[in-house]
Amino acid sequence: PVAPNGCPVSPQAAGFDPFDRPYQLDPAEALRWSREQEPVFYSPRLGYWVVSRYADIKAIFRDNLTFSPSIALEKITPSSDEALAVLERYDYGMHRTLVNEDEPAHMARRRELLDAFTPEVLEAHAPMVRQLVREKLDAIIDRGRADLVAEMFWEVPLTVALHFLGVPEEDMEQLRRFSVAHTLNTWGRPSPEQQVEVAEGVGKFWQYSGQVLRKMQSQPRGHGWMYDMIEKNRQKPDVVTDSYLHSMMMAIIVAAHETTALATANAFRQLLSRPAVWAELCDNPELIPAAAEECLRHSGSVVAWRRIATRDAEVGGVTIPEGGRILMVTASGNHDPAHFENPDELDIYRDNAVDHLTFGYGSHQCMGKNLGRMEMRIFLEEFTRRLPQLELEEQEFTFLPNTSFRGPEALWVRWDPAQNPERRDP
Ligand code: HEM
Repeated sequence: PVAPNGCPVSPQAAGFDPFDRPYQLDPAEALRWSREQEPVFYSPRLGYWVVSRYADIKAIFRDNLTFSPSIALEKITPSSDEALAVLERYDYGMHRTLVNEDEPAHMARRRELLDAFTPEVLEAHAPMVRQLVREKLDAIIDRGRADLVAEMFWEVPLTVALHFLGVPEEDMEQLRRFSVAHTLNTWGRPSPEQQVEVAEGVGKFWQYSGQVLRKMQSQPRGHGWMYDMIEKNRQKPDVVTDSYLHSMMMAIIVAAHETTALATANAFRQLLSRPAVWAELCDNPELIPAAAEECLRHSGSVVAWRRIATRDAEVGGVTIPEGGRILMVTASGNHDPAHFENPDELDIYRDNAVDHLTFGYGSHQCMGKNLGRMEMRIFLEEFTRRLPQLELEEQEFTFLPNTSFRGPEALWVRWDPAQNPERRDP
């Protein structure tokens, strides 16, 4: 096979498929060959240019005029006709939000919406996060065994996200199902039969988002980032547009919780599989923020992000033609030895862990990163204090098959309740 720039496709590039087991289990490991031999390659199966080295990914993120984010939420697997018909029935119209908006519209909008992310405003959410984690922990602490994903890792971040947005907390189970449908729809490869089911979920999510939005618009202004957006939409409808409001309402519910839920599960898995590191955190909780950051580098919850070339452009010595779709495997960049020493090691003392690409980079870098970090920190603080004897059970991890959002679907842990510090020393 030949790539769109006329160059031959190597056998490894031809064989690459992000929906195969190796990438699903460990995307950084699955692209080791690429980092070492062919850091920019065309994948005929995906129809994307794959970029795996840290410096190349950062260069793409840095230049968002040449490498537009407009395809960031595009369906990576095109819809079947049946699925399209379903979406049409729901009047589905997901369009630009922040993450997939080009300049200059993006910056004008982002600037209007920064108030909710000041350190003081974020810190004001901390007691609520801690309270939620404590209640969830109270419910299981005498049990001795639990799947932390099912018990709290998705529900707490979802509750925090809705609170942060000002969206009423209704039907959490349904919202979780919607989020899974959205992830599969955007980054998955559903079979033709699954496509219809996924489209139903996405269509319902779109309708639901519209209903919630209209309800919020009809009420006096409450607290939360969605209310900030509604207000800006009234004041500056050309900057914070109507279409933006509805699309954002749907996208942000997912962006604000699924990412954090998966990141927390990844972090607990990595730390508990290294009992000495876990013990060190229990003895020295001041190490927790650095440990969380290192987990975001080593096993982030967003592992790949997309751009499209707006002109012929060179990346790592390869010319990507205008219109070329690009998959930056940020998880691979985070394991690039040219930037991180012993990259496969989880080192909570690493001094440049914060350079990781899990939150993206440049003008679109994650706005909610400090909220996500805070939630991870609080989870770790509560568990290291209240269940230092926690152990990871032997288990097979499974992942929702997709290119970009990654974390185990379940995380089984066990502990001896008789050893709980609060029982020994109430
Ligand atoms: C953008 C990851 C949590 C809101 C992004 C991007 C990534 C990302 C990769 C795209 C960056 C780019 O294009 O350079 C994550 C991860 C999280 C997380 C790994 C948790 C561990 C959150 C939370 C919020 C949030 C809690 C809540 C408010 C946003 C927004 C953008 C964004 C609004 C778009 C920013 C823009 O385009 O200007 N995030 N995110 N994220 N994230 Fe997050």
